[in-house]
Amino acid sequence: MRVLVTGGAGFIGSHVVEALAERGHEGVVFDVRDDPGDDVRDPEAVGRALAGVDAVCHQAATVGLGNGVVDAARYVSHNDLGTAVLVSAMAEAGVRHLVLAGSMVVYGEGRYACPRHGVVRPGPRAVADLAAGRFEPMCPTCGEELAPGLVGEDAPIDPRNVYATTKLAQEHLAAAWARSTGGSAVSLRYHNVYGPRMPRDTPYAGVASFFRSALARGEAPRVTEDGRQRRDFVHVRDVAAANVAALEAQAAPGVVAAYNTGSGEPRTVGQMARALADACGGPEPVITGEYRLGDVRHITADSSRLGAALGWKPEVAFEDGIREFARAGLREG
Ligand SMILES: NC(=O)c1ccc[n+]([C@@H]2O[C@H](COP(=O)([O-])OP(=O)(O)OC[C@H]3O[C@@H](n4cnc5c(N)ncnc54)[C@H](O)[C@@H]3O)[C@@H](O)[C@H]2O)c1
Ligand SMILES: [Zn+2]
Repeated sequence: MRVLVTGGAGFIGSHVVEALAERGHEGVVFDVRDDPGDDVRDPEAVGRALAGVDAVCHQAATVGLGNGVVDAARYVSHNDLGTAVLVSAMAEAGVRHLVLAGSMVVYGEGRYACPRHGVVRPGPRAVADLAAGRFEPMCPTCGEELAPGLVGEDAPIDPRNVYATTKLAQEHLAAAWARSTGGSAVSLRYHNVYGPRMPRDTPYAGVASFFRSALARGEAPRVTEDGRQRRDFVHVRDVAAANVAALEAQAAPGVVAAYNTGSGEPRTVGQMARALADACGGPEPVITGEYRLGDVRHITADSSRLGAALGWKPEVAFEDGIREFARAGLREG
């Protein structure tokens, strides 16, 4: 199979290209990082790149939170205009298979249950609560502390920042394309991806990269809140393998199938910091009690649907992945 990998020079895309080669496929990199002419927003460049291609693996995006709403136009331009140009060029070229880098951010806060009211949807946490060190979301009805659970794909959609809205719009554009062309699309809603070649700490990077970058400078990883916020850290090679599985499966025509793509083993951010600090030989993490507005408290996926549908399962154990990550190179810029 010949696959156009947009964002193929990026962190996850570069691992997708390698995973494709290992399975005997050809990944063609299309990324402005490699060639300034390779911009997904340029219809002619995309049209040329689609010649002779069987499927597209769309990883190109502006990632992270950036500078918030000030950066809205840039996020929408790369992520949504880019996806619109891509799917319209695919329709023209008759390319019928699309795998999309989705994100867990489309869910907003994760799944919570109140001991009295069952599954509830807490709103954004109040500044006064965060400032007072009350980090757990409360039941909107009775104010009781909530227990976090695993988010399924049928959880309500609740994008809470610009990046999240652009990741959701990508799925909607893919759905419109699939419906009108009979193409098949899969959106892999990644959780916190980590591993070799992760970009070093920038406003666009993930928490694992902040910790790893601090440790590389000989500084303690600084953990926000009380460190007990839960995430699902999934290794980049497992994410790449999920992409290849989705490309090989060639899903049902006319719809977008969305799958959570996580390790299935929730960890706390504090545990991640500690494991990484141990693997680097210190220094010990510092729990700061600071908070960032808009951070979700817990978000962990139920990724069983992806396993059942595509026969995929994560292979890299957390301990092994962290040990490797502690020594692996990070990407500059
Ligand atoms: N890293 C994570 O934890 C995570 C989590 C959820 C979703 N994702 C998604 O995975 C995908 C890959 O992210 P990543 O972490 O590898 O980030 P990355 O920044 O390393 O890779 C993205 C690549 O896309 C390229 N790109 C951006 N805009 C482009 C454009 N207009 N035309 C062509 N290329 C363009 C960049 O040059 C970059 O190399 C993104 O779609 C992101 O939203 C990542
Ligand atoms: Zn309640």
